[in-house]
Amino acid sequence: MYAVTGATGQLGRLVIEALLKTIPADRIVAAVRDPAKASDLTERGVIVREADYSRPDTLRSALAGVEKLLLISSTQVSGRLPRHRTVIDAATAAGVSLIAYTSMLHADTSPAMLAIEHRQTEEVIAASGLPAVILRNGWYTENHLMALPAALEHGAFVGAAKDGRFSSAARRDYAEAAAAVL
Ligand SMILES: NC(=O)c1ccc[n+]([C@@H]2O[C@H](COP(=O)([O-])OP(=O)(O)OC[C@H]3O[C@@H](n4cnc5c(N)ncnc54)[C@H](OP(=O)(O)O)[C@@H]3O)[C@@H](O)[C@H]2O)c1
Repeated sequence: MYAVTGATGQLGRLVIEALLKTIPADRIVAAVRDPAKASDLTERGVIVREADYSRPDTLRSALAGVEKLLLISSTQVSGRLPRHRTVIDAATAAGVSLIAYTSMLHADTSPAMLAIEHRQTEEVIAASGLPAVILRNGWYTENHLMALPAALEHGAFVGAAKDGRFSSAARRDYAEAAAAVL
């Protein structure tokens, strides 16, 4: 069985869609914080299980029988490491054969604050000994849409990156990649 955490999120839903192209729905576990938000997935035959990063009991039961797991990083910046560790511990207990994790571009060398917990999570995964694939995703292209109203009004995208460059892709592309890895 295949499981995706954060499966009611924007990326998670796209990963489930991508998996459904090749995997029968009854072999896919949507591991979600709130099962009520995933009723549409239940209707399509996907197995929906409660999996809250801050409640280890839910994770243990959510990952029972799972072979391949995608851990989608938590939205809770500064506080996600213990949550990720809980998922990794549950994956170890479940004996998964593969864990994939949505990390960040250059997580090992980036000076960005956001990189810290991604790097630490990568280290916890490595220490677990589980076979793993680290998906060092770049920026979501969709993030730029937040600046679209101002850009349309003033005719320019304005930022403070100086000569920095973005390496971005659409969420759907990252989702397709994650599904392919699983
Ligand atoms: N690469 C980038 O540019 C970029 C940008 C922003 C974020 N990210 C990272 O990528 C991840 C996925 O992005 P996204 O756009 O799919 O984010 P999103 O739409 O906000 O989805 C986040 C998912 O995490 C779930 N979640 C939050 N707290 C949880 C908890 N305690 N236990 C279990 N699930 C929990 C949410 O559950 P509910 O559905 O119940 O709310 C939601 O399904 C983010 O969480 C963040 O770590 C990357």
